[in-house]
Amino acid sequence: MANGARILLIIGGGIAAYKGLELIREFKKRGHDVRGVLTTAGAQFITPLSVASLTGDVCYTDLFSLTDEAEMGHIELSRDADLIVVAPATADLMAKMANGIANDLASTVLLATDKRVLAAPAMNVRMWLHPATQRNLAQLKNDGVTFVGPDSGEMACGEYGPGRMAEPAAIADAAEARLKAGGTVIPLPPGTDSRIDKARPAAKAQIAAKAADVPPRIAHAAKNGPLAGKSFLITSGPTHEPIDPVRYISNRSSGKQGHAIARAAAEAGAKVTLISGPVNIPDPPHVETVHVESAREMLAAVEKALPADIAVFAAAVADWRVATSAKDKIKKGPGGPPALALAENPDILATIAKSRKRPRLVIGFAAETEKVIEHARAKLKKKGSDLIVANDVSPATGTFGGDANTVHLVSADGVESWPALSKDEVAQRLVKKIADAFKPR
Ligand code: CTP
Repeated sequence: MANGARILLIIGGGIAAYKGLELIREFKKRGHDVRGVLTTAGAQFITPLSVASLTGDVCYTDLFSLTDEAEMGHIELSRDADLIVVAPATADLMAKMANGIANDLASTVLLATDKRVLAAPAMNVRMWLHPATQRNLAQLKNDGVTFVGPDSGEMACGEYGPGRMAEPAAIADAAEARLKAGGTVIPLPPGTDSRIDKARPAAKAQIAAKAADVPPRIAHAAKNGPLAGKSFLITSGPTHEPIDPVRYISNRSSGKQGHAIARAAAEAGAKVTLISGPVNIPDPPHVETVHVESAREMLAAVEKALPADIAVFAAAVADWRVATSAKDKIKKGPGGPPALALAENPDILATIAKSRKRPRLVIGFAAETEKVIEHARAKLKKKGSDLIVANDVSPATGTFGGDANTVHLVSADGVESWPALSKDEVAQRLVKKIADAFKPR
């Protein structure tokens, strides 16, 4: 548990708050996951942005913004941790904790938690030595709160004595010792039911998503988006058909349109598998991307990724490959250029559309340089797809490699022509159309 623990760090309002930032770094350095709660007073000393930047998560500040999907409820926040660390634990925070006062996010989290708490007090020496604080300290120890520090030394206020917050490394050591000691969950009495499993679905999705490093927006879409629960398979990019180890046959496809559709489908909540030929663009986020080279590899990867609810074939698959590619680089010789015998590649779209594992919705593309709609209609029939997204890729349009696309949607119902749009807009509109097709009627 001490390795890779989930720590909820509550940063109170005091000059030592800046050490809270160092503490985040220290925890991270040791392989722990940190979530930050910053009190209003803490935010006078450091900014939520610095906390968020260092934790790599939202900085939680407000008790009453629970409708915001990026936020978690205080119950989930307080339970989704292995240990809560309060640093600096100010006199005010300690007083609230000792008396069960819950009037802001930090104090509410501390009251709602079922996890052990480690506190690193920091305050003026007189405040620390005041009987009220000492009473609260005794009460909190009695309640099971563990303490680290305060150290003695010169204080920011110029006085000398106990009250300096322990150094970040010492706090991290104490946190790890507390985690190692076990019993970090405070058990409920028999017959009491923890409601965490019945927490709001969005919050639960956020917890699961955090564990899988998925942003809350995507996790929420996976539960509630228009394509939630749907598996989405898409091919994209060109294929490379080897002539020899250094040469290949290919085409000008950039993969931009297919990758944009994969991204849009993931944003709509689908579980997306992208089978990508060789491209120079990054894998879209939150999409499982399988990289292939040739048409035959692409077909194998598509078959492996089935079953799926939706399949979109946006790849510009090379129609032909060299029948027998050379093992070694072909050298120039007196016999003149080599004769390349070509063989036809499998038609991936047609193969899948006609297979037993046919997804419920099959969409193909038709890259044409003339008679766009006429050719698209023929492809719709020949390939057995439900829809063909046809586009003019003649050089003058700049479609291949460019960022814009003018498409016509050809189906058995007719033709729907869209204006010139960015490839992202085409992707979003197409995904919306797909989602509409799955809406219960
Ligand atoms: N396609 C495929 N496998 C192939 C060839 C094409 O899956 N071997 C798919 C493409 O991904 C696209 C659609 O079929 O969705 C049409 O591709 P296109 O290249 O326009 O059509 P072709 O069948 O290659 O026809 P032609 O080149 O004769 O126009």
